[in-house]
Amino acid sequence: MKDIEKIPAAFDPATGRMDGVPLTQRFLHDLRGCFRDTAAFEKAAAEGNPLIYTVAGVEPAAGDGDLHYGVGMIMPGRIGDEYYMTKGHLHSWRDAAEVYCGLAGDGMMLLEDEDGGNSRMVPLGEGKVVYVPGRTAHRTMNTGTVPLTYIGVYPAKAGHDYAAIAQRNFSCVIVERDGKAVMLPGEKTR
Ligand code: PA5
Ligand code: MN
Repeated sequence: MKDIEKIPAAFDPATGRMDGVPLTQRFLHDLRGCFRDTAAFEKAAAEGNPLIYTVAGVEPAAGDGDLHYGVGMIMPGRIGDEYYMTKGHLHSWRDAAEVYCGLAGDGMMLLEDEDGGNSRMVPLGEGKVVYVPGRTAHRTMNTGTVPLTYIGVYPAKAGHDYAAIAQRNFSCVIVERDGKAVMLPGEKTR
């Protein structure tokens, strides 16, 4: 607790970086199973392994009332008609909610209930805030032409549970149609 004042407070909304904070990098090959269009994924993965997104994670303390936060940056791009996206997860402590604030760029969040129902597409970008309720799977995608950066704040005890999504993926996908993001029922990707 006593070191909280020493946590770097500055982030760059253009890059999503914070000096002195661990940076998680996710590359295309890390996202196998996320994209519905497996042929487009395999073709792109054979051609290269671009950086898709980064998260600078700040975890000052882990008490009952503490908060963690991450500054995320998703690159612009698509695999087939699906936008570059995060893996997506539920919180290990299912009741934990999260607030996302958009810092730069344009994107969408895909929210679904724990059982894969009640899919909804919510805009996240500069000047937009998204409240992710507890028991809600969440995935973020960049629908624009410049990096999407955002900050997500959640209870320190939330934890990230990727297992359910890795097994069944989201029920819906967000794809580009005539220059716009639309949500469609997805097929299982694995
Ligand atoms: O905690 C969050 O919800 C975010 O900081 C995410 O970790 C970030 O968007 C990256 O997504 P994911 O954890 O699904 O890879
Ligand atoms: Mn989360």
